[in-house]
Amino acid sequence: MTVLRSVVVGTGSALPARCVTNDELTRTVDTSDEWIVQRTGIRQRYLADASETTSVLGTRAAQAALDAAGLTAADIDLLICATSTPDHTFPSTATQIQAALGMQGGVAFDLQAVCAGFVYAVTTADKFLSTGSAKRALVVGAETFSRILDWEDRTTCVLFGDGAGAIVLEARDGEGTTADRGVLSASLRSDGRHREKLYVDGGPGSTGTTGHLRMTGKEVFRFAVGSVTDVIADAFRVAGIVANDLDWFVPHQANRRIIEASADKLGIAREKVVLTVDRHGNTSAASIPLALDVACRDGRIRAGDLVMIEAIGGGFTWGAALIRW
Ligand code: ACO
Repeated sequence: MTVLRSVVVGTGSALPARCVTNDELTRTVDTSDEWIVQRTGIRQRYLADASETTSVLGTRAAQAALDAAGLTAADIDLLICATSTPDHTFPSTATQIQAALGMQGGVAFDLQAVCAGFVYAVTTADKFLSTGSAKRALVVGAETFSRILDWEDRTTCVLFGDGAGAIVLEARDGEGTTADRGVLSASLRSDGRHREKLYVDGGPGSTGTTGHLRMTGKEVFRFAVGSVTDVIADAFRVAGIVANDLDWFVPHQANRRIIEASADKLGIAREKVVLTVDRHGNTSAASIPLALDVACRDGRIRAGDLVMIEAIGGGFTWGAALIRW
């Protein structure tokens, strides 16, 4: 049976110019390289200056993905930007990226699911492409979390960084089998009862301010390792695939310990895990497309490979998608 599949035809990413190592952080934050590396695996992160807004980083990543695909903005009819740190309350960051790319048609909108935003955005784009509602989608994850960090709170400010990543998805005919290239299955979940464990203490409709990120790290850790299995099992079941079939596991890059504990629990060999948290820190919705771009450009992920992306974020929100590259 012929079906429409959402096939990845290009990836791109962008980082702020300024790289800040753990040692550099110790000049202003009461912490140490040893503590941060031991608990999280993070060695450095990139922090945006005032000119490097979320839409600026997102536009650079999107343009790089278009270039990699050999396409222009005129070829795109859907643009979704996953972000929790938009340039403005409105208009959406996606429409700012749309304008900056010179894309005059199609539809662009933001999607907010915090660190799970990119998995949500890929899943949403796949619904448009696989139903014939759009032909080519730019899916962007872009964040400037440094703007919402409390730099007096060492338990959170050492964990995050800024950046953006993007992929281009194109609707192509498939056979309806797991040998098809494209998104093979995706599964999303959310549970709003966990708000207090990870949230921002402000917003336009409450305090009228942007607010700062607040997190109970231990509880997030416990939930992150415990919860990923349901959506991953779902994504495997729908596609008729088992963990051993995976070529690459590209999880949200929050913390090396969460990633390794999750991979072990799922029976995924450590050498199949793409890890970039050491160099980028946690860039929320940008972390997966950043990691995908690194692994595509260094030649690890190739056409035909089976890739699992997975994330959990504030809400809680979580999800997983299986993609044949
Ligand atoms: N530098 C030095 N010491 C620190 C720092 C720091 N940056 N932060 C906390 N400490 C101290 C604490 O004060 C505490 O000291 P005490 O024992 O004297 O009171 C000690 O280190 C242990 O603190 P804990 O909070 O218990 O540390 P824990 O082992 O839980 O590690 C961490 C904290 C790394 C945040 C961990 O809980 C974790 O990885 N949680 C997952 C959260 C996460 O990664 N979230 C990312 C965002 S959510 C997402 O993306 C899904």
